Amino acid sequence: MNILLTGGLGFIGSHAATVLAEQGHQIILVDNLCNSQIEVLSHLGQIIGKQPIFYEADVRNTNLLNSIFQKHSIDLVIHFAGLKSVAESVTNPLKYYDNNVGGSISLLEAMQGAKVNKLIFSSSATVYGVPQYLPYDESHPTVPMNTYGKTKLQVEEILRDLSHADPDWSIVCLRYFNPVGAHESGLIGEHPRGMPNNLMPYVCQVASGKLPHLNIFGDDYETKDGTGERDYIHVMDLAEGHVAALNFVNQHPGFHAINLGTGVSYSVYDLIGAFEQAANSTIVRKVQPRRSGDLAIYYAKADKAKNLLGWQAKRDLQVMCKSGWNFHKQKS
Ligand code: NAD
Ligand code: UD1
Repeated sequence: MNILLTGGLGFIGSHAATVLAEQGHQIILVDNLCNSQIEVLSHLGQIIGKQPIFYEADVRNTNLLNSIFQKHSIDLVIHFAGLKSVAESVTNPLKYYDNNVGGSISLLEAMQGAKVNKLIFSSSATVYGVPQYLPYDESHPTVPMNTYGKTKLQVEEILRDLSHADPDWSIVCLRYFNPVGAHESGLIGEHPRGMPNNLMPYVCQVASGKLPHLNIFGDDYETKDGTGERDYIHVMDLAEGHVAALNFVNQHPGFHAINLGTGVSYSVYDLIGAFEQAANSTIVRKVQPRRSGDLAIYYAKADKAKNLLGWQAKRDLQVMCKSGWNFHKQKS
């Protein structure tokens, strides 16, 4: 199939690109490079064995998208492009609504114009908000706690309306949990700009001596060791989940929201312990007050993905830490 990947040079998009190309699909990448580096393209070329087709373009530019759809006979779109900083979304909401919601509408208009009606959308577990019960299943109420989460939910709602209006659309919203790790080659991985916000990239920078210590945001939660617990998922498992979703979307019209997680939660101390073993180093840490907006614990009910997509995560926390560290070492 000819598959358009928006945000295809980003963390998750680039990993999905490797798996899709390996499966023999023709991939066409679109990215405006606002949160990725052009080097990723040549690294992808090294992994895949040929340079993928790439357009430096903004998904809000509908005319440019129209011309890409005209040039390539696209069968399906995977829409990764989006901004993802929770903190920035709260201080600059218009930027987030414009990029994440506006960008999605622009893409959908171009798809409609080109009569392409198969879509996989990168949603997030953030849409659920404060857990009313755990694990979160897909029927859990969706009450996002921040602007970023609201933009994801709004796009989901637009997609639901679209599929009601035109039942020929096939749409899968994948609600990712916490993606970490990197491709086994160490050529691509997570490359945050500036100070990392998320746990794994921060731990990598402490291990390499770039940052002096890890701040642990609270050790007084009602969790197994007092630190926050999350459902960390290897980015290659997530990438493979897109192939499974692609096979599903080809056969099932309508709107479907599906969790991609492991169903297991690990604490900050669990992750540090696994990382120290994987990297054979000690992570200096300091316990700090809780980070505003953080939840104590959440994790996925992963049964829907298993039943509908025939997919489940395979890689454990050790592999996540090893591959993440391997990428970080090669890059620094
Ligand atoms: P990322 O920032 O690494 O990748 C997103 C890519 O999209 C970047 O390369 C960026 O340059 C590009 N982009 C952003 N806005 C664009 C625009 N208007 N036009 C064209 N390109 C644009 O992020 P990621 O971690 O790979 O996340 C991919 C998607 O998954 C995002 O939509 C994100 O919200 C969602 N998601 C990520 C996580 C996570 O923890 N990484 C969790 C849940 C959901
Ligand atoms: C955060 C976002 C979430 C987004 C996800 C992307 C918030 C409130 N949530 O999730 O919407 O989808 O990133 O991956 O920002 N921690 C530390 N020290 C650090 C960093 C993190 O102790 O330096 C702890 C956090 O308190 C949390 C856990 O590590 O318990 C994971 O944090 P993080 O990687 O930032 O992910 P989330 O907060 O789950």
